[in-house]
Amino acid sequence: MKLERRSHCKVNLLLNVLGRRPDGFHDLETLMQPVALCDTLTFERGGHGIALACNDPRLPVGGDNLVCRAAEAFFSAAGIKDGVRIRLAKEIPLAAGLGGGSGNAAVTLLGLNELFGQPLAPSEISRIAAGLGSDVPFFLQSEAAIATGRGERIELAGSLRALDGCWLLLIHPGFGISTPWAYQQLRRFPDALNGRPGRAARLAELLSRAPLASAATDFYNALEGPALEKYPILALYQEFLRKHGATVCLMSGSGSSTFALTESEGRARELADLFRAEFGPTAWLRTLPARAPCS
Ligand code: C5P
Repeated sequence: MKLERRSHCKVNLLLNVLGRRPDGFHDLETLMQPVALCDTLTFERGGHGIALACNDPRLPVGGDNLVCRAAEAFFSAAGIKDGVRIRLAKEIPLAAGLGGGSGNAAVTLLGLNELFGQPLAPSEISRIAAGLGSDVPFFLQSEAAIATGRGERIELAGSLRALDGCWLLLIHPGFGISTPWAYQQLRRFPDALNGRPGRAARLAELLSRAPLASAATDFYNALEGPALEKYPILALYQEFLRKHGATVCLMSGSGSSTFALTESEGRARELADLFRAEFGPTAWLRTLPARAPCS
């Protein structure tokens, strides 16, 4: 028996860090929007243990891969000793702040639970997901949500109507940024380290009733300080995108991806062409509807 599932990514419309925790993580509130740029995972029962193959040679396929860790955690919790072969076809850039790996882990938990006859309850899947990574629980569903705690507590954000008809331009610069590094650097950015709570709910509320442009200054990412300081090209991207008509422009997660929101498909495609002409062909670009279904 074989099962194929798509694994979407996300952008953080807002990422507000609230302070450092004794366990080394950071409390935060983040408004995440699912994005219909997808990897594909195929699961097949058989063989011995967990065998992962991936079309992208840059991604290690050993036991440290989040997909293998998710599969191991699933088998251990379900008490299953069978083998499984997993194929991962990557579309989402790596170390990009788009949650590609976290999404793959969530889809692995859901996919294996389906393949093996639903041995685990949804609450057990959520518990395992939170142990695998802060962003993994968000990817157990496919709606916009506010995540709190270290990112593992999910509350649906409701309908962000302002994004209807809007388009997203995603840009990956060709290098990744380490998430632990980005958080560690916040020591040097005390305002960004100790944000005041309430901003995620406010942005979600604005986007539920007002046009995108009127919420533009409420988009925020606390991790931009360190990232744009170390990689000034990312600041140049944002300056260029704003100057050429992006309604909103922000880094996603801990970077390195930048996203721009525009009010039409034509504007997003035009912006992509202008961007390529200015910065050359090395960056990875995609234009997508801002609110396409992801499931
Ligand atoms: O949870 P995840 O494995 O994605 O986190 C990767 C790293 O990012 C953590 O080890 C930690 O250094 C940092 N992090 C953090 N606070 C969060 C989420 C991640 O400090 N809320």
